Amino acid sequence: MQKILVVGGAGFIGSHMVKMLGQRGCQVTTLDDLTSGHRDAVLVGDLVQGDMADRALLDGVLSRGFDAVMHFASFIEVGESVQQPARYYQNNVVKTLALLDAMRAHGVQRFIFSSTAATFGEPQYTPMDEQHPQHPVNPYGRTKLMVEQLLADYERAYGLRSVCLRYFNAAGADPEGQLGERHQPETHLIPLALQVAAGRRAHLQVFGRDYDTPDGTCVRDYVHVQDLCAAHWLALQSLMGGAGSQKYNLGSGRGFSVQEVIDTVQRVTGRPMALMDQPRRLGDPARLVADPGLAQRVLGWQAQFTDLDTIIAHAWRWENRKG
Ligand code: UFG
Repeated sequence: MQKILVVGGAGFIGSHMVKMLGQRGCQVTTLDDLTSGHRDAVLVGDLVQGDMADRALLDGVLSRGFDAVMHFASFIEVGESVQQPARYYQNNVVKTLALLDAMRAHGVQRFIFSSTAATFGEPQYTPMDEQHPQHPVNPYGRTKLMVEQLLADYERAYGLRSVCLRYFNAAGADPEGQLGERHQPETHLIPLALQVAAGRRAHLQVFGRDYDTPDGTCVRDYVHVQDLCAAHWLALQSLMGGAGSQKYNLGSGRGFSVQEVIDTVQRVTGRPMALMDQPRRLGDPARLVADPGLAQRVLGWQAQFTDLDTIIAHAWRWENRKG
C-alpha cells in the first residue's frame, strides 16, 4: 500500500486528489493549515492541521514514513501576488523549501508539485509545449518557477525525484458531486458565472472584448480537476516505478473563449446571465492553450472530461449543492 502525504489536501484540487488516492487503495494523510482549505473536504484518511513549514510538526508527521509527498498548498491569485509579493514568496517558496528540507531529513525522495501555466508568461506560440520559454510576468508565476528550478538542484544534489505538473485552467468538480471549488474570495471565471446563474451574484464582468481572438474575448484551456488528479496518479506511479524527474503541461489542448464559457453556462443552467463589459484585466494573455502531448506519450495521460458542457455541469451541480 502506498503511503502518501498530501499537503494542501483540504483545498480544491488537493481534496479531489485525496479522494482519488483513497479510492485507489493508498493510505493518505493530509496536512493543511485550513486557512483556505475546508476540513469537511478531506473525505479519506487523517487530517493534520498545521503549517507546512512547522518543522516540529513535520518531524512528527514524516516519522510515520511516506512513499511520496504531493504539494497543493500554494497561494494562487495573480493580482494579489502583485500587491503582496512578500506573502507569495514566503508561502510558495520559503515554506516549500522548509517542506522539502524536512522531507530530506526523513528520507522521503518523491515529490509531486502543482505548477502552473503562469510560469510561461506571455505565450510566444500556442498550443504551449514543455519547450516553451519560461518568463513569468507576475510574482505568482515566479514563485512557481523558482520551485521548479530548485527541484532540479535538489535532484542533482540530494536525489529527490519530482514531477512538476503545470496546470492550465483547473475547472469542474467531483463527478460524484461530493467536492468542488470553494475559493474565498472567488476570482475564477466558471464559478463566478455559475454564481450569477444561481442568483448569488448580480452580474458577470467580462474583462475585455477587444482581444485578437475569434470573438474578441480571452481563450483558455479548461482542464477538469478529475483529469488533473489522474495525471498526478500517473506521475506518482511513474516515480514509484523508478523514473527520474519530469515536467508536464496539463490541459485538454482545446481553447474556449470567455464568451463560449458564458454561452455554455447559460445552456447548461438554463438561466440567463447579466453581463457587464469591462476593460482588459491586467496581465491576461489573449490565448493560453496547452499541448498535452508529452504527458500523453510518457505518462499515458488522456483528459477524459474535455467537453466544456460536462465540466460546467459538474461545477453547476456543486454550486447548487452548496445551497
Ligand atoms: N474573466 C472574466 N471575468 C471574471 C473572471 C475572469 O472575464 O470575472 C476572464 C479572465 O479575464 C480570463 C478568463 O476569464 O480571460 C479566465 O480567468 P480566470 O481568472 O478564471 O483564470 P486565469 O486564466 O486568470 O488563471 C488561471 C489560474 C491561475 C494561473 C493562470 C495561468 O487560475 O492560477 O491560469 O495563466 F496563474
